[in-house]
Amino acid sequence: MFNIFGPKSYLGVDIGTTSIKIVEIARGEPKPRLINYGILESAGHLERINNAIQTSSLKIVDKDVAELLKTVVKKSNFRSREAVASIPSFSVFITLLEFPKMPKEEMINAMTYQIKQYIPLPVTEVTFDWFVVGERQDNEGFFKEQVLLVSVPNEVINKYKNIFKLAGLNLKALEVESMSLIRSLISGDPTATLIVDIGARSTNIAIAQENSLRFNQQTDFAGTSLTQALSSGLGINIRRAEELKKERGLLGTGDEFDLSTLMVPYLDAIINETKRTKDNYEKKTGAKIERVILAGQGAKLLGIEKYFESQMALPTAIGDPLIGVDYSQEFTPLIKELAPGFAVAVGLGIREFK
Ligand SMILES: Nc1ncnc2c1ncn2[C@@H]1O[C@H](COP(=O)(O)OP(=O)(O)OP(=O)(O)O)[C@@H](O)[C@H]1O
Ligand SMILES: [Mg+2]
Repeated sequence: MFNIFGPKSYLGVDIGTTSIKIVEIARGEPKPRLINYGILESAGHLERINNAIQTSSLKIVDKDVAELLKTVVKKSNFRSREAVASIPSFSVFITLLEFPKMPKEEMINAMTYQIKQYIPLPVTEVTFDWFVVGERQDNEGFFKEQVLLVSVPNEVINKYKNIFKLAGLNLKALEVESMSLIRSLISGDPTATLIVDIGARSTNIAIAQENSLRFNQQTDFAGTSLTQALSSGLGINIRRAEELKKERGLLGTGDEFDLSTLMVPYLDAIINETKRTKDNYEKKTGAKIERVILAGQGAKLLGIEKYFESQMALPTAIGDPLIGVDYSQEFTPLIKELAPGFAVAVGLGIREFK
């Protein structure tokens, strides 16, 4: 039908610890269309730990984040004011539960009565949701239904509502960032996959199977750890270390030191956590993880793909959230370069079109 208001579009808003990334996505055929994007990176985080945009504590002032959000929206000239935003995994409790297979009504009853024991806060203080994500036959031959329980403290939800209101945006939906990653990076593919999103302050490790989130873990070892390793190892300031890391990654050698030797212990910390997550999931469910997808701007580290692949002994690729959208040629090559870091934002932006 002819739409006199023009095609409706949505903003996918990813508020990370050191950056705000936004994409604007409109309806399109056959794929949703990326019509604009913007990023604001806080350079301050390199010097002072308190300058992070997003922290796991709730201390950071909503008003300041709202101002930053407003700035990106204005500078990038976004048309829409309808936003879909992500909640970082460290603010959420995600648990995979297994129940004997039962009719849907019984499951609803069971969850209503049992949910308390799985939530680390009083039920009145959290908003929760649960989904039947799969089914499996255990070693004794019994059928088990797998239920993913996601709970978010109300305090966190209210904080987001407040930030978006202050920024003049209409918050349509909030979702856990891992779900956005799955939508943009592997939509439609049932393969059991580890998605490792390497940000500045934290690395988020999600397991997707049959196209849904099954497990989530995170670690504080991330991009900043690598920069700090270079800075202290080479006796150079943080800014220089950050530049060196981006320029040469694991492939380059410094004047006297091998850069990769300094960074590898921290990369190994991320890899070990990924292995642990994989082992726990496989043990718990009997499933077999088949591949790794890297995301976040930390995934742009030169040579990371190969190193991860050899250590994990699993096929490893850098995720490309642009495969699920159409976009105009003028955006390439910049958006291509930024793509792994925009995986969460794109997943949020296409949510209403899936
Ligand atoms: N070319 C590059 N090579 C290596 N690392 C890079 C490159 N570009 C950016 N990074 C690193 O990526 C990190 C930022 O990633 P990203 O933008 O995904 O984080 P964020 O979403 O703000 O943070 P978080 O996910 O922790 O909340 C920084 O540590 C930065 O140094
Ligand atoms: Mg991030």
